[in-house]
Amino acid sequence: MSEQSARAFGRDPFPALLPRDDSGFQFVFYGDCCSGIPGTQAEANFAAVNAVVQRLSPAPEFICFIGDHIGGLDDDPEAVRRQWCYWLDHEMAWLDPAIPIYHTTSNHNTPNAQAEVIWRETFPGLPQNGPPGQEGLSYYVRRGNLLLVCTNSAWSGLGGSGHVECDWLDRVLAEHADAVYKLVAGHYPIFPVNGYTDYPLWRVVPSQARPFRDVLLRHGVLAYLCSHIIAFDVQAHDGLLQILTGGAGTNYGPGGFMPGQTEYLHAIQCAVDRAGLRYQVLDTDGCARESLSWPFETPARHSWKAIPFGTGNLRDPNPWWEPDQPVATILLWRFRGARAPDAVFGDQTLFCAWCADEGPATLSIGLAAKSNILTVQLVPEAGGGAQTWTGPALAPGQPFDFQLALHTGMGPGGVLWRKDERTPWSSLLSSSARGAERMAKPQHWTLGHAQSGVGDHPFRGTDLSVTWCRAS
Ligand SMILES: [Fe+2]
Repeated sequence: MSEQSARAFGRDPFPALLPRDDSGFQFVFYGDCCSGIPGTQAEANFAAVNAVVQRLSPAPEFICFIGDHIGGLDDDPEAVRRQWCYWLDHEMAWLDPAIPIYHTTSNHNTPNAQAEVIWRETFPGLPQNGPPGQEGLSYYVRRGNLLLVCTNSAWSGLGGSGHVECDWLDRVLAEHADAVYKLVAGHYPIFPVNGYTDYPLWRVVPSQARPFRDVLLRHGVLAYLCSHIIAFDVQAHDGLLQILTGGAGTNYGPGGFMPGQTEYLHAIQCAVDRAGLRYQVLDTDGCARESLSWPFETPARHSWKAIPFGTGNLRDPNPWWEPDQPVATILLWRFRGARAPDAVFGDQTLFCAWCADEGPATLSIGLAAKSNILTVQLVPEAGGGAQTWTGPALAPGQPFDFQLALHTGMGPGGVLWRKDERTPWSSLLSSSARGAERMAKPQHWTLGHAQSGVGDHPFRGTDLSVTWCRAS
């Protein structure tokens, strides 16, 4: 959550992000309200989110609603039909009929074959261009330069919730290779979010998520838009963004969200153009609580500064963290060296930064014992303990050269790594629901060992060299 960039707009219309060239689009996506029944908390929550969407100026060119519109899960088909009628004819009655809304299936919308029949009755106008057996459940739309594929991740014929097909998706993306902007939506995340790793309960089963991800990467899809977890989350994987929005009203999880300590009701307004993708996450107070411009610019290598071996002070001035920044802080490090030839049985430190009054290091970048997996540990909130992010394993005895980024506008997905400037960024894996956005500003740093000195979890390899810079 990046509250540095929060902007309050009162009750007046507030500005939508607009494409920066004529080829682009601006739109809204949100999902997961489990509404459709009068008088519920879900209805009130959904109304509050919709009130914010209605204030956008200009209005979105289209809306994508990524599943769990209704609570569903009722054996009485008439009760389910009543929920759909209430959702469409009452709760969404405010929507200008000229603004198309593209819907996705989900575990609450289409939990079984009977619900799929009702879905098809409810949305007879959706394109019937899906894979065999899933016509009207999966589909794509082409809007000029933009291809939007709404995938079904809950088909009764394929194992139900948390399952996806890839062949039709591969063919559609190949047939629309000329689309400048390719977006794919589906209810279930393909990468776990906030530690919700259980599958198929909370994400697509890995055996199907991997080929699905490969299809998206092979065809240059800009982002996979998903929901299901009651949260907002963004991650990058080989440059592909997974943007999760599950904040339209569902009350579920610890504190009513997953989890309530970090998440909030929201909708996302997004613009795509030839320079990339930007979004703002709008809460029900009319604040853009989080925002991102992707990809971010990286300064040329010659402008990066070397960090000398040893220990240093980050106070007066602190070159990394400047208070009250209107935009996210993006710190980059380049690590070079050679790993120890044999297995090392203790954690090794590449870089460590800390505050004198905090127990665990504010930020520690190193290699895990035995596995030599790139590991980042940081304290998302002062006094709240450390969380861990993991990346690739570094080969024993081999030289390494990689870059690490800490992006305070991307939440837990903002701990990223890449091999070099020619390779795309990937988020490291973590169960944390927060990233570095509230991390305390470290006062001291050290290279090659932890806080206590040269014998404290030292780097056991050779030729360690580190440079750093800020990006924007
Ligand atoms: Fe769901």
